[in-house]
Amino acid sequence: MTDANVTVHTEAAIDRIEPELHGHFSEHLGRCIYDGIWHSEDADGDGFREDVMTLLSDLDMPVLRWPGGCFADDYQWEDGIGPREDRPRRRNLFWSQDRSEVPEEPNTFGTDEFLEYCERVGTKPYLATNVGSGDPQEATDWVEYACYDGDTELANRRRENGRDEPYEVPYWGIGNENWGCGGRMSPEQYAREYRRFATYVGSMDNLMLDEELELIACGFEDHEWNHRFMEEVGKSSWGVEYPLDHLTLHHYYGRTMSVAEADEDDYDQFLVEALEMDHHIERIASTIDAFASTRDVGVIIDEWGAWHTEAVAETGLEQPGTVIDALSAAVVLDIFNDHADVMTMSNIAQTVNVLQCLVETEGDEAWARPTYRVFDLYAPHKGNEAVQTSVDAPTREVGDEELPLVGASASVDDDGGVYVTATNMDTRGSHTVEIDLVGDAGADVDAKVLFEGQEPDMVVDADNADEFAADDLDATVEDGVLTAELEPSTVAGISVR
Ligand code: AHR
Repeated sequence: MTDANVTVHTEAAIDRIEPELHGHFSEHLGRCIYDGIWHSEDADGDGFREDVMTLLSDLDMPVLRWPGGCFADDYQWEDGIGPREDRPRRRNLFWSQDRSEVPEEPNTFGTDEFLEYCERVGTKPYLATNVGSGDPQEATDWVEYACYDGDTELANRRRENGRDEPYEVPYWGIGNENWGCGGRMSPEQYAREYRRFATYVGSMDNLMLDEELELIACGFEDHEWNHRFMEEVGKSSWGVEYPLDHLTLHHYYGRTMSVAEADEDDYDQFLVEALEMDHHIERIASTIDAFASTRDVGVIIDEWGAWHTEAVAETGLEQPGTVIDALSAAVVLDIFNDHADVMTMSNIAQTVNVLQCLVETEGDEAWARPTYRVFDLYAPHKGNEAVQTSVDAPTREVGDEELPLVGASASVDDDGGVYVTATNMDTRGSHTVEIDLVGDAGADVDAKVLFEGQEPDMVVDADNADEFAADDLDATVEDGVLTAELEPSTVAGISVR
């Protein structure tokens, strides 16, 4: 029996799905950088882990944010350049760089390593400057060191350090969580600091660089805070009214859920929390609209993903990689598609080993997590035109909330091919889904499915990682209507042309 109906309005375009909606975040935290991205003993001679680099390159990662997170607001970028043996070891107020509790940073991996990594992987770099304990001069010097082609001391220092050409760094974050670890500022205080930093960092592209820099302000899940920030940041006494290109917030979910102890009720609650992403995007977009326009100031979800009770400082925020986490990523990526008209980027936390990472390592082994499979399955959406999709599906009461048991989103490519992704958020049962393609759609179907026959708490490791690869999904088409059965906690990707 069909119990869920998805209607894809192939001619009702929302907007282009920016590839950057599939971006990533990597912080000097636990084993994300050291042992994840960088591993001096194992690598091809320069410290980069080839195995991780290959997995990330295969995914066409569009953007990578670095060096934090909270780490960014206690980081002095000049510590991480020049000969590695001369770089200082520093205490870090927030995170240790392994699984121990010692919060110290060796600075082995710094600006040149990060920017070279981005070039090798083929991703755009996004640097987060230090607003909490730093100053605008430091931030502006960082832009000059990385991006300036002239004959200044800083540009020449980059050359001495082995890099002649300036790097292309399109995205510059002005601080991180400045309402919290980035200085515990009021929104007005952050807005004033933000304007100060933006004046100097933002002037670099007009005066000295060939490329445009996009400036990113860090907002909050408290939307009143964002409102007050936008109000204050616009009080510029000259010229630029809203000196920001993007406003971000961070949304983590599942923080009271233990992966080891969770049951089906916990999974329902977890998915309800993931679905709150929709509300946050709508609220931050309407805050922007109250002062500027979402065409001029884009919405970024700068950090997002599952954060469970297992992920504590002592584990370097590590938690097992499971099917249920991957399902939540699919649900969230569908939400991003539906908001393609306001969203300019999003970065899942974090790339390797930490929180809802896509890649995990242990010793000499590296493997893709189930969440990696979801990003891979959703990749055909990147660059497509998102189209309106409505879902009529059964729901389950979860406290005061309703969990829809089936979700979906869709997009159309330049040749008219339609790509639909659908999730069965029900961990207890299967659902037969009818997908009605309204408009001019073809009949040639290629359908894949993830996680059939796998329990929501199934944990990936080096030995079973291949079992999470996509399988063929049995989908029939008749008169523009596709029918498929989705087993519990599965994710489907269906191409029709
Ligand atoms: O991703 C882990 C931490 O979560 C980041 O350092 C911080 O920005 C956020 O609170």
